[in-house]
Amino acid sequence: MIAMQEDTQAPRQLDQRYDGLAKVTGQAKYAAEFPVKNVAYGYIVLSTIPSGAVTAIDQAAAERSSGVLAVMTPFNAPKVVAAPNVHLLQSPDVVYNGQPIALVVARSLNEAKHAATLLRITYRQQPARLDFKALLKESRIPKRGASVSQRGDAAASLAKAAATIDETYTTPIQNHNPMEPHATIAWWEGNKLSVYDSTQGITGVRQNLVKTFSLQPDDVRVQCPYVGGGFGTKGSVWSHVALAAMAAKVVQRPVKIAIEREQMFGSVGSRPNTHQHIKLAASSDGKLLLTQHHVLMYTAVYGDFVEGAANQTSLLYDSESLATSHRMVELNLGMGTWQRAPGEATGTVGLEIALDELAEKLNIDPVQLRLVNYAEQDPSHNRPWSSKHLRECYAQASERFGWSRRTAQPGQHREGNKLIGYGMGTAIYGAGRSPSSAIVRILPNGRLFAGIGTQDLGTGTYTILAQTAAAVFSIDPTLVEVKLGDSTLPRSGGSGGSTTASSVCPAVHDAAMAARQKLFDLAANDAQSPLHGATAADLDTKDGKLFLKSSAQSEAGKSETIAALLTRNGSTPIEATATSELPKDREAFTSHSWGAVFAEVAVDADTRMVHVRRVVGTYDIGTLLNNKTGLNQLMGGIAWGVSMALHEEALIDPIHGRTVNESLAEYHVPVNADIGEIDITCLNIPDTRFNPLGSRGIGEIGITGAVAAIANAIYNATGKRVRDLPITLDKIMA
Ligand code: MOS
Repeated sequence: MIAMQEDTQAPRQLDQRYDGLAKVTGQAKYAAEFPVKNVAYGYIVLSTIPSGAVTAIDQAAAERSSGVLAVMTPFNAPKVVAAPNVHLLQSPDVVYNGQPIALVVARSLNEAKHAATLLRITYRQQPARLDFKALLKESRIPKRGASVSQRGDAAASLAKAAATIDETYTTPIQNHNPMEPHATIAWWEGNKLSVYDSTQGITGVRQNLVKTFSLQPDDVRVQCPYVGGGFGTKGSVWSHVALAAMAAKVVQRPVKIAIEREQMFGSVGSRPNTHQHIKLAASSDGKLLLTQHHVLMYTAVYGDFVEGAANQTSLLYDSESLATSHRMVELNLGMGTWQRAPGEATGTVGLEIALDELAEKLNIDPVQLRLVNYAEQDPSHNRPWSSKHLRECYAQASERFGWSRRTAQPGQHREGNKLIGYGMGTAIYGAGRSPSSAIVRILPNGRLFAGIGTQDLGTGTYTILAQTAAAVFSIDPTLVEVKLGDSTLPRSGGSGGSTTASSVCPAVHDAAMAARQKLFDLAANDAQSPLHGATAADLDTKDGKLFLKSSAQSEAGKSETIAALLTRNGSTPIEATATSELPKDREAFTSHSWGAVFAEVAVDADTRMVHVRRVVGTYDIGTLLNNKTGLNQLMGGIAWGVSMALHEEALIDPIHGRTVNESLAEYHVPVNADIGEIDITCLNIPDTRFNPLGSRGIGEIGITGAVAAIANAIYNATGKRVRDLPITLDKIMA
C-alpha cells in the first residue's frame, strides 16, 4: 500500500450525492428496470406447507395457458450445484412455508402469475417444528463458530455483589423491507452468463453463479449500478438469482425475476428472534462484577445463522467475570440472515435495558454506570483499541440532549395528557475492512475516472469515491467519473458489516496516487514540459494544473495543465491500479465504532401510545467522510431503532408456519409522523491505525443503542418495564 502523503488534503466533500440527480430524474436504472431485449418473466411459486414434500405437480393447464414458455419444478428442473441456503428445485422436499417449489416463465408477468395459479400441487405433509418456546429444551450450540466467551470466577464475583439483575429480554423475527425488493435479469450467450442483480456484493453473486453452474469466473458478469437498499438481505444470494439463470437456459432467452413484496417475507432471509437471558451483578459503586448474556434464537432446519446478540457484551464494558453464549432452536422457517447491525442491534437491546435496571437498583445515573465500567482496552483480547472516544460521546450527547433534566424516579414528568420520559443507551458496532482493488485513469481532458467492483446500496459510495480520487489531485470532486457495480472492474468485497467505505476508499486513493506518480514521471521525462527534469517529490497538482511545489503556481514556465501534458503525449489516458490490503498489525488492536444515544418519549396517559419526540446521538465513527451521506445513514439507523422498539414484528402462523403479516400494511414500520427530531453529531476523530483515511464505517451503528434508549425512556415515563419487543401499547398497559 502506498502511504498517504502528509500533504494530501482532506477530501473536499460533495454537498450533493454523486448519484442524486440520476435518481431523482429516474435515469438511475435498478436491476429489474434494464431494457433487455426479448426478456421473459419468471414467477416463483412458494410452498404452502411448512414441512414435508411435493409429491406431484400437475402442470398441464399452466403450460396451456396464454404466454407460458416453461414450468420448472423439482421434477424437471436442470441439475445444478445449489448453495446451502437456497432452493433451486433440486429436491421435492419442503422445509418451510414459502420455499420456492416451482417457477413459471411466460412472455409477461401477468401471464406467468396467472399460470402459477393453475398449477395443481400435491404435498405429503409431516409435522413441522414451529413452536419456539415449546422447543427451547431442544436448543443446541451453532454448528460453526462457537461464539462463546468466559472470563473470571462467577461465584466469587457474585458473592461480593450489592445488586443483581436476572431478566430475559426478547426480540421478534424481523423482515427486511428495502424500498427495492430483490430482482434479477439473467441471460446466456453460449456458456457466458450475465446478470443484472440487486445485491450487496457483485463478487459474491459471481462466485455463487460460478459454483452453481460449474463455470469459470470470467464466464459470469454481474452488473448492479444502483441498489434501493439492502440492509443485509442482499448480502447473500437467494434462490431467485440462480433460478433466473436456470430458466434463461431452459427458455433460451433472458429471464427476469422480480421478488414481490410479500415474497420478501421468508424466502430471502430475516433477522432471527432472540431470547436473551442476562445476569448482572455490581458493587455498590456500580462496578460490574458479573456479566452473563446467554442468547437463544431460531435457525432454519436446513442451516445455521447466528444472530450474535451476545458478542458486544464480551467487550463493551469491563466486568470482573463474564460469560456469553448463543444457542439455537431449529424451526421450519426460512433461513435467518444479517439485518442491520446483526448481533449488536438485538444485543444492545438486552444489555442496555439490563444496565438501566441495574442503575436504578444501585441509584446511580445510567451514564455514570457506563463510565464506571468503561473499557479502556478490549477486555476480550486484552489489547488496545485502535481509537476509542466513547467518553466524549456520552458527554456531548447528554449535553445536547439535556440529560441533567432527567428525574431518575419514573412517572414524574407530565405535559397535559402526556407522560414524558428520558432514556439512554450505548451504541457499538465493529469495524472491518476487506482487501479491494481499484483503477484510476487521468483523462486527456483533465478529468478523472475511478473504477472499482463494489456497489452502492444507496449509502453514498459513489460520492465518497469521487471525493477520494479528487482529493489526491486537488480537483473538484465533480470532475471525477465513478464506475462501480460491474464485476469486470477490479475486485472488491461485499457491502456488509459497514465495511465498504473503509475498504474501497483506500483502494481508490492508492490507485489515484499511483496514477499521479505516473503523471509526474511523464512530465519529468518530457523534454517539452516546463517541468522536465523535476523529481516527483517536487511536483504537485491542483485544479487541473501540474506545478513545481517550490515555484508559485502562476510563475510562467513552471507549470502546465494536465490536459496539455497528456495532449502532447498522444492523448492517451494515464492508468494505474492498486490493491489496498489490510493493516499488517491488525492483530495488535481492536477496532470498533462507538456512540451514545438519548431518547425522549411522550406516552399518552390514556392509550399508552408512544411517540419518540427526540433522539440525540453522538458517534465516534472515525473520519466522517461526507456529512450528507454519513449523517443520513445514522439517521436511518435511528429511525429503524424507533421501528424496532415500537413497531416491527413478523408474526408466524403457529400451524402453517407462514408469516401472516407479509405486507407493509400489516408489518408495521414507522412513517414520517412517527419520527420526531433526530439530532446527530460525529466526533470526526480519524482512526488512522485502522485505515489510512481514518474512517471506520457508519451504516449499522445507528440502530444500536437506540432501541434500548427508547425502551428505557418509556420506563422512565411510565414506570412500566417492557422486556419484550416491540413495545406496543397493550404491553405498557398490562
Ligand atoms: Mo449489513 S446487515 O452487514 O448489510
